[in-house]
Amino acid sequence: MTMKGVILAGGLGSRLHPLTKVTNKHLLPVFDRPMIYYPIQCLVNAGIEDILLVTGGNSAGDFLRLLENGADFGLKRIHYAYQRGEGGIAAALRLAEDFAGGDPICVILGDNIIEGNIKKAVEDFLAQGEGAKILLKEVPDPERFGVAEVDAGGRVLGIEEKPRHPKSNLAVIGIYLYDAEVFSIIKSLKPSARGELEITDVNNAYLERNTLTSEVLEGWWTDAGTFESLLRANNLVAKGGANKLEP
Ligand code: G1P
Repeated sequence: MTMKGVILAGGLGSRLHPLTKVTNKHLLPVFDRPMIYYPIQCLVNAGIEDILLVTGGNSAGDFLRLLENGADFGLKRIHYAYQRGEGGIAAALRLAEDFAGGDPICVILGDNIIEGNIKKAVEDFLAQGEGAKILLKEVPDPERFGVAEVDAGGRVLGIEEKPRHPKSNLAVIGIYLYDAEVFSIIKSLKPSARGELEITDVNNAYLERNTLTSEVLEGWWTDAGTFESLLRANNLVAKGGANKLEP
């Protein structure tokens, strides 16, 4: 079984208006390159070269013009899927079912940028053989994210999406490892209060099946979907180190 990669780069980017009025959030600059370069490089650095990019909206064609067949990343090709409308992260992931073809997948949100490498997490997940693995990171503002409650041994007890009173400071970052069961789980989901199919519900479904594991990410992590986090992403990348990108 080979691990495939899925990058989710849709959405309206409404928290970044007016920057995202005429383009997709993931095409905005983060220091010296477009945001979407970082999640692609993250997958490639982990040895994942079979990659699907899911996007939508009016700027979808710009991804093809920018990325072409992925030569900047040493890829032979990039696969593309078009998402009509909105529906949440899990709804976008649904479009990857045929691409995955029963193989395990590494899903990364297009605005997540990390300093280090997820190669070891990918290898650990492949050794695990089934289920899912999430990556966690201590943050000062957990209420902005999915938050994992873990026991003393690091076992996940539950995940809450943007809780008002977080049970820990461990954010569930936007990099997820799933087996092919993820697609039947998505089909069983009901929309949340904000009308979306939530990735947190997917992860909690694996937890109920006792097949969810977690690891704490080393090195810095940030998303870039708000003005504050976009600025932080720029500063962190400018200081160096993100995904060990080639110059
Ligand atoms: C999403 C997920 C959240 C996760 C975050 C990571 O939130 O719903 O669980 O912690 O990505 O970037 P969003 O940024 O779409 O609100």
